[in-house]
This record gives sequence, structure tokens and C-alpha cells, in this order.
Amino acid sequence: MRYLLALDQGTSSSRSIVFDQAGQVVAMAQREFRQIYPQPGWVEHDPQEIWSSQLATVHEVLAKAQLKASDMAAIGITNQRETTVVWNRRTGEPIHNAIVWQDRRAEPTCATLRSQGHEDTVLSKTGLRIDAYFSGTKLQWILDQVPGARALAEQGALAFGTVDSWLIWKLTDGRSHVTDVSNAARTMLFNIHTNTWDSELMGLLNIPDALMPRVLPSSAHFGDTTAALLGASLPIGGVAGDQQSALFGQACFTPGMAKNTYGTGCFMLMHTGNTFQRSQNGLITTSAAQATSTPQYALEGSVFIGGAVVQWLRDGLRAISSSGEVEGLAHSVPDAGGVMFVPAFTGLGAPYWEAEARGAIVGLTRGSTVAHIARAALESIAFQSAALLHSMNRDAVSGGGVAVTELRVDGGACVNDLLMQIQADLLGIPVVRPAVTETTALGAAYLAGLHAGVYSGLDELSQQWRADRTFYPTLPRDQAQERMDRWERAVRQATAR
Ligand code: G3P
Repeated sequence: MRYLLALDQGTSSSRSIVFDQAGQVVAMAQREFRQIYPQPGWVEHDPQEIWSSQLATVHEVLAKAQLKASDMAAIGITNQRETTVVWNRRTGEPIHNAIVWQDRRAEPTCATLRSQGHEDTVLSKTGLRIDAYFSGTKLQWILDQVPGARALAEQGALAFGTVDSWLIWKLTDGRSHVTDVSNAARTMLFNIHTNTWDSELMGLLNIPDALMPRVLPSSAHFGDTTAALLGASLPIGGVAGDQQSALFGQACFTPGMAKNTYGTGCFMLMHTGNTFQRSQNGLITTSAAQATSTPQYALEGSVFIGGAVVQWLRDGLRAISSSGEVEGLAHSVPDAGGVMFVPAFTGLGAPYWEAEARGAIVGLTRGSTVAHIARAALESIAFQSAALLHSMNRDAVSGGGVAVTELRVDGGACVNDLLMQIQADLLGIPVVRPAVTETTALGAAYLAGLHAGVYSGLDELSQQWRADRTFYPTLPRDQAQERMDRWERAVRQATAR
């Protein structure tokens, strides 16, 4: 039996999972680390804590699995995307905390870029909107604000990386400064047609070339870990940003295959093959994980408040005492009794892009209870995801592609059967939960396994993928449409100023 070690470095915790060749979880370890909020709208991580928590989980998972590093065929890495780290190449010391993807400090820079009319250039080259979410303007902020940083960067003394690059640097003791296409695609500095750092965008953001990592396909030789670290040197054979990794772990390799990850927020990605599909419906275009040197693309949309609405029911409204109670409460009523909940706590993302929108609960009557509100909260996750999928389908079909025929799901909230059924009813297509729901880590393991020769190719991975449960739509389409129409009306109420 050959094993694969996946490192899953997420926003709130570092995890390591050992998979066997069949893609089954052998053991898992997880450590949380500090979230640093220096001021409103700013979010940072300590890169050394990212590294130490990640390394601790590697040791822990090997011990739990009762395996040695030398039993692993390769390492795969998947990571929170966009989060920006800059370190000194000589000392290996970060020059600033990592600026996390959620951090909004670079918004004024983005507003200037937008007002200067650069939106179309950025979109056509990177597939992205100009937004503080992406790494480019975070990197610019570090170079401008950390004393001496820009001069050091120009001398080639500093290295930039997303979290994957940082971990690889540490794992290889500074011998590899690399990233993969799916992470590079999140920087707003990478041309996803040519798979190269784009000199025009680098110039626009005033980023010296010397900072940048070498970019490889997602399944490639990223370096070898130092033997002293784990007791044996291991090849790093797979790297992908977490959402693209989940798409890969769900075996969505061909146009029209889509996955939705139900976490604090939701991330939906639809594969579009080797076609760069420009969205007319508020989505972004991104590089999918690339098993070979051929570029692969996906359309992506995100819901800002997904599972977080359940946390609000618990911590804000105090309607439940643990998140697990929401399903029972929502199930205690046959429907939401006309209540609509638009959880626009932090504005609305794709396809609405209403930054100023705020949450709204509408349709309340004397008969409304907390159970109706809980059900409406759950439904809001499905409504927002359905709006994304409808946008993706419109883009795909208008671009000569195919509409999604089933939605593969993962993430914490996909265990909620009621939510999955509501989702299938709204979409009118089957919603499929895989047997292995650790798809993010599995994607990285698959990418590493392909490189190490554990798998023969994508066909073998497609055959290995197994459904646990399929939720079939039961609601007549006209009723589903009527419910979507009511949702859209509620969104308009939440966004009315
Ligand atoms: O784009 C941000 C995303 O990669 C973060 O994912 O799972 O760490 O919240 P997660």
C-alpha cells in the first residue's frame, strides 16, 4: 500500500491528512492558530505560527497513522488562497505578518486602480475583478509600508509567496521558491492565458520581478523536504489553492462539472476545460488545478455568509446553543412560513456585488417563530448558492459550453441533509455528497499521487470517486422558480438604500 500526505493549511486551522492509495482517510490531525485583528477590516496571521502549527500536525498525523515519512509516496499541499507573505531570503524571517485574504486594507489602492480605468485590463488578463481580496495590492502595501522593504525587494533580497510558497520554502529549508498556477492566479499579477507573471500588471502595482516565485503546474516537482525535518526526504508533488484543490478532489475535471464547498462562506467552482470563459454574470475566472502543462480554467463565485448564518443564530440571536441544533429546529416546521432571510451581514458577493447591502429578515407575521427564522437561515445558504449556479449556467451556455447537470458538495455543512435537499429542490439537479468529504486535502493528495506515479491519470481518479448520497429534486420547477423570485425580491429589499 502506498500513502500520500496532504497538508491543508486553512484560514482558521492547519491540518494534515494521510490518505491511502484508494483515497480513504487513514489519519488526520488539526491545530488552530491565532487570528490577529490589528484594526477594523484588517486580518493577519503570524507566518511562523502557520508553519509551526502545520509541522506539528504532520508529526501528529504520522504518529496517529503509525506510519513513517518514508511510507509516504509524496506530499501534496493545499492552502488558504491570496494570503500574502513576504520574507527575507537570507534569514528566512518574514518582514511582516501574513495579510489574510479577508483583509480589506488595500481597498483604497483598488479604488484608485478602478478609477484609473484598469478594470478591463486586469479582468482580461487575470480573470479577476480589481479587489483587495487578491494578493497583489496586499503585497504592494507591505512594500510601501514596511521600512526599507522596497529597496530590499529591488535588490532581490526578499521573497513573496502565498501560503503554499511559504510552506514549501520552510519544508525545503529555502531551496525551493515556487508556487502553482492555481495560487498564482489569485494574485492579480498572473496572466492566466500565458501562465506567466504579467509585466504590465507588475508595473501597474510597482512589484519588482525579483520577489516572485517560479510557477509550476499543480502536479509537478516542487522540491524535496529536508531529511532532518521528518526523518526522510519526501518529494512535494502536488500544490493547489484550497478551492481548486476541492474541485480536483471531487474529480471535476471536465467542462460543466461543478462543486460547492459549504463552509463559513461557500465557494462554488465550475470547470470550463481549457477555455477561458469570461463571465457576463458577476463571476470570476480562475485557473483550475493543472495536472499537466495545459492550462485549465474554472468559473468561481463565493457566498460571503454561508455556515456563518448558523453561527449568528447561535451567538447573535441565541436561538440555538450549538450549530448542530439548526437542522432539527428548521425541520420542526414544514417551510419557512413566508419568512426570507438575506444574511448580507458584510454585503453581498457574486452575482450581486452589493458591498453596502446589510442583512434583512422579511415576511414576518404574528405566526412566525424562531423555527421559521432558522429554516429561512438555512434556506438562505441554498438560495445564494442557487443564484451562483444559475449565473454559471448562463455564462457556460452563452459561451457555447454546457450547463451543470449535478452539483458535488463538500465542506462542514454538507452533512446537513435538510440543506442538501433544499439545495437540490432549488437547483432542479441532483446534489451529490461524496463518500470522502475531505475533498480539499484529497485533491492535493491526488495531485501529488499523479506526480509520484501512484495514479495513472485522471480516468483512474474519476473511477475512484464515490458518492455517499444523492439528493434528487422533488419540487416542481415552477414552484422552485417562484421561490427564487421571492428570494430575489428579498435581496432587492436588503439592497435598497
Ligand atoms: O479564497 C479564500 C479561500 O481559499 C479560503 O478558504 O477554507 O481557508 O476559508 P478557507
